[in-house]
Amino acid sequence: MDNVIDFINVNRERYLEELKSFLAIPSISALPQHAGDVRRCADWCADEMRRIGLQNVRLVATPGNPVVYGDWLGAPGAPTILFYGHYDVQPVDPLELWESPPFEATVRDGEIYARGSADDKGQVFMHFKAVEAHLKQNARLPANMRFILEGEEEVGSANLDDFIRAHKDELQADVVVISDSPMFARGVPSICYGLRGLVYFQIDLRGSSTDLHSGSFGGAVANPAFVLSQMIAQMKDRGGRIRIPGFYDDVAPLQEEERKAWASLPFNEKKFRNDFGIPKLFGATGYTTLERTWARPTFEVNGLLSGFTGEGAKTVLPAVAMAKVSMRLVPNQHPDKIAELFEAHVRDITPKTVELKITRMHGGKPWMTAYDNPFVQAAGRAIEKGFGRKPVFTREGGSIPVVSTFQEELGLPSVLFGVGLPDENAHAPNEKLDAGNFHGGVISAAILYEEIAATR
Ligand code: BES
Ligand code: ZN
Repeated sequence: MDNVIDFINVNRERYLEELKSFLAIPSISALPQHAGDVRRCADWCADEMRRIGLQNVRLVATPGNPVVYGDWLGAPGAPTILFYGHYDVQPVDPLELWESPPFEATVRDGEIYARGSADDKGQVFMHFKAVEAHLKQNARLPANMRFILEGEEEVGSANLDDFIRAHKDELQADVVVISDSPMFARGVPSICYGLRGLVYFQIDLRGSSTDLHSGSFGGAVANPAFVLSQMIAQMKDRGGRIRIPGFYDDVAPLQEEERKAWASLPFNEKKFRNDFGIPKLFGATGYTTLERTWARPTFEVNGLLSGFTGEGAKTVLPAVAMAKVSMRLVPNQHPDKIAELFEAHVRDITPKTVELKITRMHGGKPWMTAYDNPFVQAAGRAIEKGFGRKPVFTREGGSIPVVSTFQEELGLPSVLFGVGLPDENAHAPNEKLDAGNFHGGVISAAILYEEIAATR
């Protein structure tokens, strides 16, 4: 193993240069004008996977963006790791807030700034380099490995479940490894054992066939912007409790053991507020910030659009109003059931004065695993060796829809081995990955394969 770590240390600078070319491809899955870039990025991954010595590398077509597959199965008797990551990224707007161009990775103050640096290209690349180091130095990996890289994670993984169902045999493994999450805090490595799920909707209201003069019509016609605001305002009470009937029915209560463990984590509420410019925190009464983000469901407005928003004033009743809303879910809530409850509730509270169109968008199930699972513990040992500090065990508020599919379709546990940071600006301007964490991540990943091999 020492020779593998030596190789990683010696090649540290080269990795950064190579990562820059991965980060230079604007593989934004949400925007149709980037379809060619997404495809080019899949090709880039396949080429890289061949370069580092993976075998059977190919693009597998789906109705959406291709899945990149590659494997190395030369360790009979050893466990098989299924690595999952995504090569697509989020849009970059608002572009003017970036301090350096999003697709020209720039290292400043030890941070790699670029769209996708943390989420998820930089973290995928750690594993490429860990595999390369093993194969270059020893001509073998400690465990068998299969890689699948998706190009639609940031738009809800609509085609991935079918891909997994259709390729069950080629995906046989013992454990899934994913590096697509932050660590608990700078200098505090962590292993994540739970994620929230998601349901997402667009609500469109129409109050008239055209915008109306607010003098001639105001007072006699319902304003869809106002109606929509009232509907949204009804979704939560003042204590932050969501008022959709049945919403909480399946929520698994927080275990006392978790509550205690989380209370002892080095979480500084004041720093959290300061880091993100939050005047005062708000959330459901009776829960701490970590409990609210890791173990409780949400209802949020992601976007609102209606009427005149330009400079100056315009006296108008908008014809339409639109909201994008989503709910983060926790075990044992089911996205389909919550979607039904939500839709029924929205229909129920929509007044007859407006026409409603409600559209369900992407989503995913919540996920949680026992953290005494031997693979999770193996990951804990690997990250401890790589970062020189015992990890904490966390849950996260974000979602990776495929994790529950791995469990349900392939019966596989997942290990969430992330080295991002809570202030990595994922999905926002100035996304960054700490260069030291990246390097520690390559080393930890190389050790992780050994630790997983040693579970057998
Ligand atoms: N890397 C994130 C998931 C994540 C975020 C894990 C924060 C842990 C903490 C992932 O790429 C992502 O953003 N997922 C989407 C999923 C959605 C589009 C279905 C999310 O959580 O919004
Ligand atoms: Zn991600």
